[in-house]
Amino acid sequence: MINVTKTFFPPLEEYQLQLQRIWDNQWLTNRGELSLELEDKLKKYLNLNHILITNNGTIPLQIALKLLGNGGEIITTPFSYVATTAVIVWENCTPVFVDIHPEYLTIDETKIEAAITDKTTAILATHVFGNPCHVMVIEAIAKKHNLKVIYDAAHCFGVTYKNESIFRYGDVSTCSFHATKLFHTGEGGALFAKDTTLQQQLFYSHNFGHNGPEAFHGLGINAKISELQAAMGLSVFPYMEKIISERKKVVDFYNAHLDFSKLQTLKIRENTQWNYSYYPIILNSEEQLLKVQKVLNGANIFPRRYFYPSLNTIDFVKGTPMPISESIASRVLCLPLYVGLEKSDLEQIVHLINTNIC
Ligand SMILES: Cc1ncc(COP(=O)(O)O)c(C=O)c1O
Repeated sequence: MINVTKTFFPPLEEYQLQLQRIWDNQWLTNRGELSLELEDKLKKYLNLNHILITNNGTIPLQIALKLLGNGGEIITTPFSYVATTAVIVWENCTPVFVDIHPEYLTIDETKIEAAITDKTTAILATHVFGNPCHVMVIEAIAKKHNLKVIYDAAHCFGVTYKNESIFRYGDVSTCSFHATKLFHTGEGGALFAKDTTLQQQLFYSHNFGHNGPEAFHGLGINAKISELQAAMGLSVFPYMEKIISERKKVVDFYNAHLDFSKLQTLKIRENTQWNYSYYPIILNSEEQLLKVQKVLNGANIFPRRYFYPSLNTIDFVKGTPMPISESIASRVLCLPLYVGLEKSDLEQIVHLINTNIC
């Protein structure tokens, strides 16, 4: 069976060596030696001063919204994973959708200003499939209207924009280290803050608000990563170059062999060093998509409809129509992309797609 993705497993002996350290330390969580080492390694790799590793990629979004959303209207994208919208509702804020760019698939920055009201407090946008939003324009709009900017950068490990880590942009960026992601800790994630003050606030918030064992800085929750998760991260981390270069080979194959007269793929924003995290194809109609999906499934190949449905249409939000997002969401299919995908499998996938679209 060929799935849309496959978790990268480091050699078991290497994971066992990391686990041995946990047993030696007799320390399982609360920012132990392994968590601190992983944080330090990531800080150097990403060339960032502020990083806080967490237990998943969703609670960081909640924390960011709790600190910066202030119960207001949050300008957001309808084309993302459901977590991006769910956290807004969960934090008692109101999502206000702005449609997406048809090629970059990120929020259309030219439409943001029209959606701002006196209740707007923040913009929460997703760097979809690791493709950066137009961060410069968004920053200028936020400055002009005194809004905070949060980026859901769940897909962005290793992405640079204008030679800087994409996590550097916005007041806060978040990442997911879920097992399906490029870099993973099984479950896990990270928070990235613009400055030291915000970093401190995020730090308190991620650990129940503790300021020492008996004092509290304010309201907090538990977003701490465990040493078991950090052990996985430390075992996966040495393979990052290999993971990215192997994924690039798969993307290059799709780029070279798919019939782009009949379908579209993601347009990567200029000045981006991408991470090859997903390979979406956008077909001409939902009917075409369903046909291609059926043919691939018949061959035991399981692409995924990322992202479907468009988030403005789900039942716990009252979204207005978003024609571009709804159209793309009905036609987009993410193709298998992972380390170890065989050339013969790629040839079959491409053949089945090219011969079943018109
Ligand atoms: C865009 C986006 N945001 C947030 C998340 C949530 O991350 P996690 O699963 O680590 O909680 C995901 C997870 O897949 C995602 O794709």
